[in-house]
Amino acid sequence: MEIIHCDVAIVGAGGAGLRAAIAVAQADPSLKVALISKVYPMRSHTCAAEGGAAGVVKVDDSFEMHFNDTVGGGDWLSDQDCVEYFVTEAPKELIQLEHWGCPWNREADGSVAVRPFGGMQKQRTWFAADKSGFHILHTLFQTSLQFPSILRFDEYFALDLLVEDGRCQGLTAMEMRSGMIKQFHAKSVIIAGGGAGRIFPFSTNGAIKTGDGMAMAYRAGVPLKDMEFVQYHPTGLPNTGSLLTEACRGEGGVLLNKQGRRYLQDYGMGPETPLGKPQLKTMELGPRDRVSQAYWHELQKGNTVTTQWGECVLLDMRHLGEKYIDERLPLVRELAIAYLGIDIVKDAVPIRPVVHYMMGGISTNTKGATILPGLFAAGECACISLNGANRLGSNSLVELLVFGKSAALSAVDFIKDLPPPDTTKLEALARQSQAKIRELFSRTDGTESMSGLRKEMMDTMEKNAGIYRTELGLQEAVNQINELRQRYQKVILNDKSNVFNTDLFQVLELGSMLDCASALTVSALERKESRGAHQRLDYVERDDLHFLRHSMAYFQGLEQAKVDYLDVVITKSPPGVRDYSGGHS
Ligand code: FUM
Repeated sequence: MEIIHCDVAIVGAGGAGLRAAIAVAQADPSLKVALISKVYPMRSHTCAAEGGAAGVVKVDDSFEMHFNDTVGGGDWLSDQDCVEYFVTEAPKELIQLEHWGCPWNREADGSVAVRPFGGMQKQRTWFAADKSGFHILHTLFQTSLQFPSILRFDEYFALDLLVEDGRCQGLTAMEMRSGMIKQFHAKSVIIAGGGAGRIFPFSTNGAIKTGDGMAMAYRAGVPLKDMEFVQYHPTGLPNTGSLLTEACRGEGGVLLNKQGRRYLQDYGMGPETPLGKPQLKTMELGPRDRVSQAYWHELQKGNTVTTQWGECVLLDMRHLGEKYIDERLPLVRELAIAYLGIDIVKDAVPIRPVVHYMMGGISTNTKGATILPGLFAAGECACISLNGANRLGSNSLVELLVFGKSAALSAVDFIKDLPPPDTTKLEALARQSQAKIRELFSRTDGTESMSGLRKEMMDTMEKNAGIYRTELGLQEAVNQINELRQRYQKVILNDKSNVFNTDLFQVLELGSMLDCASALTVSALERKESRGAHQRLDYVERDDLHFLRHSMAYFQGLEQAKVDYLDVVITKSPPGVRDYSGGHS
C-alpha cells in the first residue's frame, strides 16, 4: 500500500477544508498539507449556499447584537465564549475574502451591501447575489492554488483514521478512479467533511453529504455532540428539496397559507408587516426553527395548499418586481422555473420546510480540537457549539471560515516538535482498514440491498425525527436504526470492479449515515424537553434545569450509542425568552 507522508491531512475540500489548508500554508509554508476530498473542490456543498454570510459591518450594528442574536437564536445552547470569538472574527474573515477576490454586492456608494436575514436584529448578511456559496468557494479554491505546499487528492474516499499511541496520526483513503487504498501518515488530521443531511429523504443537501467525516471520528471514539438538533429550512422547493434562499424573505418575500393569510402572525411572530418592507427579527424574518414549526401547525389545521408536489404553503415575491428579482435573486427565479415551471415574477411559488443543516457534529473545543489528540474538525461536520439548538441563517458560511482557520492554527501548533509517525505501526492499522474493504468484496452471504436499507433509514427518520417528535416515534426510530445497523452487516456489494465503483461508495456512505442516524435518534430520545429545532410534543417546554447541556453520543459498536452530557458555557447571557413578536405579544 502506498504511503503518503504529510504534516497535516485535511479531509474535505469545501469552504472549511480550503480555509484550513490556506491557513496552514500561510502559517508555515514548509508544512506539507494533504487535502483529501471525495469530490473535486468546486463540487463541494459550500457551492450550494445562496443567501450570504453574516458579519458586523454597518455603523448601527455591534458585536454585542450579533452575539445576542446568535445566542437567543440558538435557544441558549451555544457556548458563549465560542460565540464571542466568532462575532469578532467574522468581519475580518469576510474582508479577507474580499481581498482574495470575492465579489460581494455593493451599495450605490461602493460600500459592502448587506441584507436582512432571519433572527437577526440588524442587516449584516454579506452576499453575492444569491450565489454567495459559489463565490466564496471559488475565491478560496483560487487562493489555495497559489500555495505549493497544498497537495490535492481529489476524488479520494476517506475510510478510517489511523490512531496509534493515543493520537491520530493519519488515515486511509481510496483513490476512486483506481480503487487503490492509500495511507496518509500525518502528524495531525482536520476533518472538514460536511454534514449528514442525506439521512433524511427530503433535504437541500447534495448527495455527497452523508456524514462520512463525522462517522469516521465517531468510530474512533470521539463523541458526536448535540446531534438531535436538525435544522429545517422553511423554504425548500417541494419536488427536489432545492433551497430557495432565506434571502427571498430577507428581500421582502412573504409566506401565505391557503387562505392567502400571512400566517406567521398567528405564531407569535406578528403583527403583519407592510408588504415590501421586511421588518427585522419578526414575521418572515423569524428564525428558521419557528418558521418551520409554524408550517407544521398550518398543515395540522388544513391550511396548506394541495399541489401536484404535495402539501405546501406559498412564497410570494411578485411585489418585488422583475428588475429587483433579477438583480438579487436570479438563481431562485431560475430554480423555480426549471423545477416547477413557475416564474416567481408572475406567480407565488409553493414551498415547504426541508432538512438543511446539522447543528450537531464532531465535538470540539473552541479551537477545533477533539478529545483525540491530533484530531481537529471544522465546518458543518463539527460541533464547536456556535449554533446551539438552532443556527441563524448566514452564520454557517462564516463559521467555516473562522473555525476552519482556527482549527488549522491549532493543528499547526499541535505538531510542533512532534516526532514523525511510526510507519510500521501505522501500516499494520492501514491493513486492517484495507481488510474491511476486502471483506465487502468477498462477502458471499450478503442478503441486504444498499438501496433498500437506505430507504428504510430515510423513511424512519422522516416519520419519527422530523420537526415535531414524540417518545413513541423516537423509540421506533432508535429501534429501527439499531436493526438496520445489524442488517447492514449483510449488505451486498453488487459491483466488484475497481474503477469508480459507485456501488461501493454508496455502501460505505450508508454505513456512515446509519452511525450518524443512531447518534441522532438516541440523543433525541433522551432529550426530554423542547428547545430550538428539537421539539417534543410530549415535553413541550424548555427545561434548563435538566437540559441546558450538550448531549454527547459515544459509539458503542453495534450497540446503541451511549449519551452523556456536557455543561453549556454561559459567559454573559443567562437563558431568557426568545421574542420574535416585534414587541407585540
Ligand atoms: O437560505 C440560505 O441562503 C441559506 C443560508 C444558510 O444556511 O446559512
